[in-house]
Amino acid sequence: MRIVSTWSFGLRANEAAWQKVIEPSPGSTPALDAVEAACAYADAAADIDSVGYGGLPDATGRVSLDGCVMLSPARCGSVAGLRRHLHPVSVARRVMERTAHVMLVGPDADLFANQQGMGEAELLSPEARATYEKWLREGGVVDQSRDASLAPGLGFDPLRPIDRRHGSDGRLFGGGELPPDEAQWRHHDTIGCLAIDGTGVLAGGCSTSGTPFKVPGRVGDSPIIGHGLYVDPAVGAATATGTGELIMGICGAFLAVECMRRGASPLDAAREAVARIASTYPLESHHQAAFLVMARDGSFASASLRPGYRTSVRDASGARAVEPEFVAIPDPSVTGPTA
Ligand code: GLY
Repeated sequence: MRIVSTWSFGLRANEAAWQKVIEPSPGSTPALDAVEAACAYADAAADIDSVGYGGLPDATGRVSLDGCVMLSPARCGSVAGLRRHLHPVSVARRVMERTAHVMLVGPDADLFANQQGMGEAELLSPEARATYEKWLREGGVVDQSRDASLAPGLGFDPLRPIDRRHGSDGRLFGGGELPPDEAQWRHHDTIGCLAIDGTGVLAGGCSTSGTPFKVPGRVGDSPIIGHGLYVDPAVGAATATGTGELIMGICGAFLAVECMRRGASPLDAAREAVARIASTYPLESHHQAAFLVMARDGSFASASLRPGYRTSVRDASGARAVEPEFVAIPDPSVTGPTA
């Protein structure tokens, strides 16, 4: 039994989910319950500014949430662009379990959640609203170039906390300036969660508020099966976090699982996915991506494009946040294709 989640805030999310795998309800699918519970925890946490209630809004100041859940190619569900419901993975699970479809988007996804009896919620936290208003005061320019360095003076602070700001318990510490070596990256902190339960069932879930101040309607990798998440019970599972546009162009999670299908270890699969990004795109200094990969025996590994990412683990040995086994670009100042 094991739960692994992206980023060190995943420590808290894993803990919220652990009971689901060690004391499963009769008739439940514990791994599925666990990934739903972990993502729901992150959705509700006001101090996680890239998921759920704490998530930063789009360029119009409105939050939209995306997420998906997966047990196998035949059992997956997804929603994108929720504006009235806090838990995308829970709505996605209903899509998987109660419809013949895989993905619902926009207002009709919210309507579906209403029809399922799921309560509506305020999605914009006071802190996220304050950050949005600061962004507006500083220019409010949608970063369509994708490169903040092309828009100097517009107030592009490092928008994403980077992982070392979190203590070993996953809580944010500090609150002042980022250390200089960390301040140059804007990070992007989707929760991707993979779990294997006592019966060997693998499940994955992924939840995000997407890119801060995004063009309204933008959807990234997280809710797209095969991009932000892929699970094949015969092989293993993978989830991604980071700049969605980089992950989508290489079908990242699917790529990692397919590498394992051809014999790669979880580490080699994660390494292949980040190396593919590094060699494919004209990288910008704020780009980050990481892959978390689990084999069907529960062994796992992660790899990131740049330093600053960590994986949170919960298993019988306890809870811990671990560095990725591979970092494609240890020097964060490097841009452009690296191979
Ligand atoms: N990785 C999440 C997103 O780009 O929306």
